[in-house]
Amino acid sequence: MASATVSAPFPHRHLLAIEGLSRADILQLLDEAEAWVETGRHARKHDDRLAGLTQVNAFFEASTRTLLSFEIAGKRLGADVVNLVASQSSLKKGETLLDTALTLNAMRPDVIVIRHESSGAVALIAEKVDCPVINAGDGRHEHPTQALLDALTIRRRKGRIEGLKVAICGDILHSRVARSNFHLLAALGAEVRAVAPPTLMPHGVERLGARPFTRMDEGLAGADVVMMLRLQLERMDGAWVPSTREYFATFGLTEARLAHAAPDVLVMHPGPMNRGVEIASSVADDIQRSAITEQVEMGVAVRMACLDLLTRARRAERP
Ligand code: NCD
Repeated sequence: MASATVSAPFPHRHLLAIEGLSRADILQLLDEAEAWVETGRHARKHDDRLAGLTQVNAFFEASTRTLLSFEIAGKRLGADVVNLVASQSSLKKGETLLDTALTLNAMRPDVIVIRHESSGAVALIAEKVDCPVINAGDGRHEHPTQALLDALTIRRRKGRIEGLKVAICGDILHSRVARSNFHLLAALGAEVRAVAPPTLMPHGVERLGARPFTRMDEGLAGADVVMMLRLQLERMDGAWVPSTREYFATFGLTEARLAHAAPDVLVMHPGPMNRGVEIASSVADDIQRSAITEQVEMGVAVRMACLDLLTRARRAERP
């Protein structure tokens, strides 16, 4: 069975953010993930290097694809994968985050994957447990495996990342996907643009390495990659956009708008998509230009690489 080759140890205990990773760290994760793509395409997808290890996926915020992706990745590596989802947890009964962390830790997991609605919550838990922690998205902060899978998708389609014009468009203010991508794309030398209405553009986006645009046509001009973001209605407690119809009219990705981008533009979206709000169905379903389902496939490979790399030190302790 095809599998990733054993490379140098990963120099971090946890994967909490892209910020703070070196270019070499990012490339190591991408190169290892590349090898796992092949494994996923075989009928028999198992490489049991995590056999005997317990992987806990603790998801305190709704998720379908990310949870499924981490679960499939762990199972392909032979781990015992257990899911804890918020609706069933004691957090609903008022248990503090730290008590939850201590409870999880007492069951002696070998890796914990956490999604939480509060920025910083995952790092807090990571300090209290004895095993590696992977951030599967914390509030508006970061979603490192999403940026890695986006980078793997771009690199495979375009052959490189350095020098590409990447336009990240939409609800940047509330997006952990955008933040992780800004850090990663800057580290790998892409020319990054942040395209959003003024109400959804974070202050100081230039400090994250992105050039701001408040008009879609200008932001898309000559872009090699267009990454659309979902309007995060659950993180909006006021009127950030006049209406979703108005939003689509000015910021929705339509065929006509996409004509401003490079002819061989790659269209991406982390999902879940709001068709007719941030992206037209005809663009999302365009099999030539859209890489949206490929992103999902790359997600499993990236998560296998992360689980493998972060548990390597523990596996070395136990023959
Ligand atoms: C993203 C997330 O949860 O941050 N989705 C995902 O991980 N597939 C983006 C989003 O929810 O819009």
